Amino acid sequence: MDREAAKIRIEELSKEIERHNYLYHVLDRPEIPDAEYDRMFRELAELEAEHPDLASPNSPTQRIGAPPLKAFATHRHREAMLSLDNAFGEEELVAFDQRVRRFLSMPTEQPIEYLCELKIDGLAISLTYQEGALAVGATRGDGEQGEDVTPNIKTIRQIPLHINEAAMLEVRGEVYLSRSEFRRINREREEAGEPPFANPRNCAAGSLRQLDSRITARRQLRFWTYGIAGGDQFATHMAMLEHARALGFPVNPHSQIVTDISGALDYCRAWQDRRHELDYETDGVVIKVNNRGLQRELGFTNRAPRWAVAFKYPSEQVTTRIREVTWQVGRTGALTPVAEMEPVEVRGVVVSRATLHNEDEIRRKDIRVGDTVVVQRAGEVIPEVVEVVLSARTGQEQPVRTPPNCPVCDTPVQRDPQYAVVKCPNRDCPAQAVERIHHFVGRNAMNIEGFGAKWIKRLFEEGLIRDAADLYALSEKRDQIISLDRMGDKLADRLLTNIEESKTAPLERLIMALGIPMVGEQGGRLLAQAFGSLDRLMQAREEELIAIDGVGPETAREITAYFADYRNQEFVQRLMRHGVVGISSKPEPAGNQLEGLTFVFTGTLERMDREEAEELARRYGAKTTGSVSKNTTHLVAGPGAGSKLLKAQELGVPVLTEQEFFAMIGL
Ligand code: IVH
Repeated sequence: MDREAAKIRIEELSKEIERHNYLYHVLDRPEIPDAEYDRMFRELAELEAEHPDLASPNSPTQRIGAPPLKAFATHRHREAMLSLDNAFGEEELVAFDQRVRRFLSMPTEQPIEYLCELKIDGLAISLTYQEGALAVGATRGDGEQGEDVTPNIKTIRQIPLHINEAAMLEVRGEVYLSRSEFRRINREREEAGEPPFANPRNCAAGSLRQLDSRITARRQLRFWTYGIAGGDQFATHMAMLEHARALGFPVNPHSQIVTDISGALDYCRAWQDRRHELDYETDGVVIKVNNRGLQRELGFTNRAPRWAVAFKYPSEQVTTRIREVTWQVGRTGALTPVAEMEPVEVRGVVVSRATLHNEDEIRRKDIRVGDTVVVQRAGEVIPEVVEVVLSARTGQEQPVRTPPNCPVCDTPVQRDPQYAVVKCPNRDCPAQAVERIHHFVGRNAMNIEGFGAKWIKRLFEEGLIRDAADLYALSEKRDQIISLDRMGDKLADRLLTNIEESKTAPLERLIMALGIPMVGEQGGRLLAQAFGSLDRLMQAREEELIAIDGVGPETAREITAYFADYRNQEFVQRLMRHGVVGISSKPEPAGNQLEGLTFVFTGTLERMDREEAEELARRYGAKTTGSVSKNTTHLVAGPGAGSKLLKAQELGVPVLTEQEFFAMIGL
């Protein structure tokens, strides 16, 4: 493709990809399958690689991150990013309304319209657009100046890279992480033996302040808009938000205008419980005078606007005492400290244990046995110790000691110098064995229901199972299971049926269930797709693994190390002997005419779309890939073919028409 054509195509693809980003990430209304999106994205990336000078700094390809920075530059805010005054309790909210009235000399009878918004628990950021393009994304910092984190901001797919407004515009809002994404990230970190994040906010902050934006890109940060700096042209705050929405920014749908402060009180009451149903954390409600003219009259103190207030929900924190710290041994042998506390109620749930995460966390918070501590429950997240109440110290408190030996199997522990983790190195440690089985049956793995931690432990202690492969031999031990206290035949049969049914679990889940370090849900999917069977995965060499898009060298090393261990080989073979092979989602074979060939499809096909053609090729034994390389044996090109056709011609790869392709398989 010549330069001029490439330029046009790059622009066309960029626009189209961003339109689909918006449909998917902001409107939640995708119009095309993911594969189609991926293909456009790949085509754009290829074109940019061929014509680096045509790649815009605001290309959608920037959403996957850019090479790491050495340090962040400082960004001075054009207008200070202020904080908000808090209102604790309903009286303080009423007092806010009275303050506003006094300042405006407005009688009580005259209603004031307020805009009620959820207060999102994330980080404030500022987005500057120049000539319609995102120029700077910066953190709040001290309010006067923050850090320029533009490459990281560009990875947030809800934030437009271009807007339809040429004048300089600064949009402000909150970057946050959904609860579900937070859990996914922590699961992944635990799998990799890294210490988990304490809560979504910390995780969002850590993700946004990465010098390597490719790491940020792997965490699905999200954004809610709360204002436009300046914004004098708008009559109301709501009109300002509507304008932002029309420009493509995500605006929280739960914002609501009320006619007076009692309406605001109703809003706060209504969301007190409802907010826990949301997939993101909120810590209150922000109440703003809606009229921009009144806002201007009210102005600012030196720390906050007089026209807004943050209503904070009553604390979900309580204090209690730490009786002792125990150490839990995980699947990978990592020891996690757990605070055993005097039971207290937090939001209707009695809490007596909380994870202390790791040694660093204990040191940072200076937690000692006997300490009075503040404990909180955030959403469904496990309870955590927020801080020590230092004033309650008696001098009798004891420092937390990391045990020299595994509390379960007594093997001397080892320290992982890279992370703040202490590990039990004994693979046969009963705690690890039980946790491995627990992981295997988990909802994201083989999903064997009715098999909680307690039963796994019981069966293990009774010697009925030593590892997950033994589950599939349990049907022969039905009598022994039934005789267990509290089991009975109903429960036993349900368990056995569920175990039997799990034999049809897809390959990707079986791979994930094995518990190979660094291989989670996503890894399972990639490996299942690439190898199609457990047998082939077991034979995979490190180079083959690294060649898979999404598998890094460290993961590849973990995978080969896992299968090199004879105990794992034996375990997997026993699974397979029981018929647990992982059902491959590979298409049914239809013939072998294309065996050993690697096809790439490009351009528009007439008889079917590209995905269908690819699947067809695979059913006849071919491999299909998205880009042309020296391994490509055939390119099938329809009208509109571009860079791939060029590349194929350059490499001397045979190019087929659609008809010629169908002829090869006799269709
Ligand atoms: S308005 C002049 N609206 O809360 C300040 N802030 O405690 C304008 N926040 O720094 C802020 N949700 O990071 C506003 N709906 C919302 C918000 C919100 C969360 C954060 C924001 C601010 C902090 C103040």
